[in-house]
Amino acid sequence: MRKLLVALAVLALGLALGQVRTLDQIKRSGEIRIGTEGAFPPFNYFDEKNQLTGFEIDLGNAIAEKLGLKPRWIAQSFDTLLIQLNQGRFDFVIASHGITEERAKAVDFTNPHYCTGGIIVAKKGGPKTAKDLQGKVVGVQVGTTYMEAAQKIPGVKEVRTYQKDPDALQDLLAGRLDAWITDRFVAKEAIKERKLEGTLQLGELVFQEKVAMAVAKGNRTVLEALNKALSDLMKDGTYAKISQKWFGEDVRCR
Ligand code: ARG
Repeated sequence: MRKLLVALAVLALGLALGQVRTLDQIKRSGEIRIGTEGAFPPFNYFDEKNQLTGFEIDLGNAIAEKLGLKPRWIAQSFDTLLIQLNQGRFDFVIASHGITEERAKAVDFTNPHYCTGGIIVAKKGGPKTAKDLQGKVVGVQVGTTYMEAAQKIPGVKEVRTYQKDPDALQDLLAGRLDAWITDRFVAKEAIKERKLEGTLQLGELVFQEKVAMAVAKGNRTVLEALNKALSDLMKDGTYAKISQKWFGEDVRCR
């Protein structure tokens, strides 16, 4: 009786959490579930009509199309994405994750879909270099490589973390932060989009990173399919077109 109850509980939990699906299972369903965040413009965000959009959304849709599958997008907070991925909530995640050793222990990364770096953003006249951050209050999104980088800079007074990256920008503008560390393309886009050219300045790149999609640990069939689709899109001009649309340049790693 005890054993039966335990078995039922495990089954119910499995159903509630969902299961990591192989490529075959996904193909049979006709639909691929893609996890992202939705608060990281211009990579993944909700536009003024509350539509999920961005470079990674276009790329994810193009990948689904290459695989002959219908994309179903699921937006969740950034710091839960890799956990939910391993629980089978999505088939893959595309949310600007830098490839790190730590993350690679938990999930499997595809080949990178772009290369970038973390940059220091401040009000005009504010800190520009890692050295300038001594004694300063720095804002970063929680769970990101910017958080890790900021915590390693010697002499920083405080690293303040935010659930969403744009909330750090808000606090920088309100004077509650001396600096914000974020992606260089995110910073550029925020300044352009909010017309902050006269208010904010970009400082130095604190680090560079390769950004990739991720699948649940050991989900080899999906990993291989994503790598193949990405490489096809990079060869047939689709990637270049999507990159031009969002950045005016090709952001693939070289
Ligand atoms: N590239 C950074 C990292 O790997 C930030 C990613 C943030 N992504 C997002 N959708 N907010 O941690």
